[in-house]
Amino acid sequence: MARERVISSKPQPQDRDVSVVSLRPTTLDEMVGQRSVIEKVSIAIQAAKQRGEPLEHVLFDGPPGLGKTTLAHVIAKEMTERPVRMTSGPALSKQADLMPLLTNLERGDILFIDEIHRLPKIVEEFLYSAMEDFRVDVTIEGGLRGRVVNFNLQPFTLIGATTRAGLLGGAMRDRFGLQFHLSYYESTDLATIISRSAAKLGLQAKQDALDTIACRSRGTPRVANRLLRRVRDYAQVCGDGTLTEDIARQALTVQQVDDLGLDELDRAFLTTLIQVYEGGPAGIEALAASMGQERDTLEDVVEPYLLQIGFVIRTRQGRQATREACEHLHLEPPATRPVTRTPSEEPSLFSTES
Ligand SMILES: Nc1ncnc2c1ncn2[C@@H]1O[C@H](COP(=O)(O)OP(=O)(O)OP(=O)(O)O)[C@@H](O)[C@H]1O
Ligand SMILES: [Mg+2]
Repeated sequence: MARERVISSKPQPQDRDVSVVSLRPTTLDEMVGQRSVIEKVSIAIQAAKQRGEPLEHVLFDGPPGLGKTTLAHVIAKEMTERPVRMTSGPALSKQADLMPLLTNLERGDILFIDEIHRLPKIVEEFLYSAMEDFRVDVTIEGGLRGRVVNFNLQPFTLIGATTRAGLLGGAMRDRFGLQFHLSYYESTDLATIISRSAAKLGLQAKQDALDTIACRSRGTPRVANRLLRRVRDYAQVCGDGTLTEDIARQALTVQQVDDLGLDELDRAFLTTLIQVYEGGPAGIEALAASMGQERDTLEDVVEPYLLQIGFVIRTRQGRQATREACEHLHLEPPATRPVTRTPSEEPSLFSTES
């Protein structure tokens, strides 16, 4: 994407600066929301500690920015006080990439693999025995035929995170004893999160300003923290530094984030679907091509929230915009909605008819 997207739930470079890193909760008690997940994680941790065993392998799935990485850090702190070993699916292209990580693990350490659905098959299969028996068989080339050497590993906990649970094979999934789905946060929880963030940043903020930001954060703590910082900038430059509701509204208007937290890209998605594809159904590839966007961006960061708030539905024929979406954008709902239209009958990608 050419433009920085302020409500993107994907991590942005500025999220890594010191102030934001320190906004991450470090203990389970500091985590806000996701009550049922936190409770189950907490019980599993206590039970494992009482038995003196490492925690079972954990899988977190859910849209970006809801706290999967944060939870991995928190679990590591609660279990071992040692830092998490972090890696990600795309960074591991062969067995040899994983070996140093595995062999350096101490008993009870946490290995975190982000985007685990993007692990190459060969690495995934190599991981199976590591997860199940804490050993790996490595084939060493040389001589007439390869030699198989097996390495014993220290018992460890693998925490996998994925934004696309559907792309994870059953064999991998079944090896996780604990599986949790993170869902979008209630806006009251987001208001609590940013009120703590404001305190950490030394900001004076009115409750109604925090509520306004929370309502426009599309259920996502990462977005809420980012909007808070944009509003802080605005308050500093255009106000007296205090976050009032007025300042929050003005700042969010400048950022083109609307009442529901939708930004230009969300609106472009809906407008394309409604005007170019007469409300749909339209395939994701066709939509991506019409908008000049990556399919992954649409599927990972745009669509999940639009589905969640009922602005888009997915049918076998493709994506369809709902009446609520048309109303929100003040667009006329398409007069006829051919729900049974097959993908081959979709309008041409370059059609501009509305
Ligand atoms: N439950 C929570 N309470 C308070 N803050 C939270 C919570 N969950 C997440 N955050 C904040 O949101 C930010 C994003 O969380 P995190 O990086 O863990 O998301 P993620 O699910 O790993 O996203 P991705 O899929 O993009 O990797 C964190 O920096 C943290 O400040
Ligand atoms: Mg993450």
